Amino acid sequence: MANVVIVGTQWGDEGKGKVVDLLTERSDLVIRFQGGNNAGHTLVVGDRKVILHLIPSGILHKEKLCVIGSGVVIDPEILLDEISALKTKGYDVSPESFAISDRAHVIMPYHKMIDHARDTTQRIGTTGRGIGPAYEDKARRTGIRMIDLINEDMLGRKIEAIFDEKQEYLTTILKVKGLNKEDLINKFKDMGAQLKPYVKDTSVILNEASKKGKNLLFEGAQGGNLDMDYGTYPYVTSSNTVAGQACVGTGIGPTMIDTVLGICKAYTTRVGEGPFPTELEDEIGERLRAFGGEYGSTTGRPRRCGWLDLVALKHSIRISSISYLAITKLDVLSGLDTIKVATAYKSNGSIIENMPADLCMHPDLGLVFDELPGWEENISDIREYDKLPENCKAYISYIEKKLGVDAAIVSVGPKREETIILKDLF
Ligand code: GDP
Ligand code: IMO
Ligand code: MG
Repeated sequence: MANVVIVGTQWGDEGKGKVVDLLTERSDLVIRFQGGNNAGHTLVVGDRKVILHLIPSGILHKEKLCVIGSGVVIDPEILLDEISALKTKGYDVSPESFAISDRAHVIMPYHKMIDHARDTTQRIGTTGRGIGPAYEDKARRTGIRMIDLINEDMLGRKIEAIFDEKQEYLTTILKVKGLNKEDLINKFKDMGAQLKPYVKDTSVILNEASKKGKNLLFEGAQGGNLDMDYGTYPYVTSSNTVAGQACVGTGIGPTMIDTVLGICKAYTTRVGEGPFPTELEDEIGERLRAFGGEYGSTTGRPRRCGWLDLVALKHSIRISSISYLAITKLDVLSGLDTIKVATAYKSNGSIIENMPADLCMHPDLGLVFDELPGWEENISDIREYDKLPENCKAYISYIEKKLGVDAAIVSVGPKREETIILKDLF
């Protein structure tokens, strides 16, 4: 029996969805603990591709319980669409297979409008899903929670209490069209009624399941370098993406976590604005984007691509005490003569080995690189570690050694079966 937390180690889109789907086989419950529908987690099973934004990536498996924890911010309209799209495809999304924390906060239309309007002046390149403004209201104690959404009286009172202020902010400060209060209340009451059967005290459910010996799998969104405290602030998301948040965002205690699996793409990508030291704005960057299909699962934006960055990875490993790595998208590197890896940064003549808090303030940042030989072969059909090309194995060993963490999983393609398991985590 084991409880495993999965987190991204870079700037998101490392392949968390694929690995969660894969490990759900050995788990009983799969739980999202932060973020919202800014996430886009891709699962490829057979010929079918499913992109999930809110519902945990375990939902394609039968007889598992998928849970959205209190740390997630929920857009009810998107969630209802996701539930109905999954049901249409024949998946079970009933209150027996899916539960939502009564304490999770709701993303309201004004949050999305504020997010869009602000991003034109404070360019973060957000996903525009209202994530930041929803977390702001949560911290400010003016948020609407799922428990309010499913209670008509409470919902009406909560919206009444905040509406005028939001309307004023939208129309006077942001100079966008305002909202109709009655329409807003009616629409949210209706969505609350539809979601009510799923809304529960999920902290109780998780703790009881764990006591009975069930395996819990926690699914992080985004990545360590987008964390609100430890990421490349202010170019971050508005939640904590580190493994510790798996406790806060679900209502379990830290002694219940056994293993933290860090998902590490074999190169680096980033979407939106913000520092990206190893970014390649040349034909190699374009090649990684084309071969890796590096276009956002949520917004469709082209992802910025670059070499592996050990400074950013070491930082993630430290802040989440990562026990094992899953190295993904190694197949995308096939055909490169050499592969570069940044081992340190350079600024004003000094070497920087730990991620600086003010990375944005180093426009002159230089890089220290190691260069490794590449491999020609297509590796997507390989299922045994020993059969990988020697240079591919050397690249994996190099990453493990430099980071001081072993790989438990190597992913060589987007499909469930395109995987080499090196260590059983349960
Ligand atoms: P997530 O947000 O971390 O779940 O990652 P995304 O789903 O946004 O992006 C990862 C993309 O890479 C998806 O299109 C996956 O289907 C794909 N993918 C995952 N693992 C691999 C792999 O090992 N090789 C290749 N070629 N694609 C992969
Ligand atoms: P998954 O879970 C990659 C990025 C946005 C933007 C910044 C802030 O699929 O890995 P936000 O909308 O959260 O306020 O945007 O964070 N971002 C992601 N980048 N993958 C994600 O999720 C992301 N979620 C947010 O592009 O730079
Ligand atoms: Mg993604």
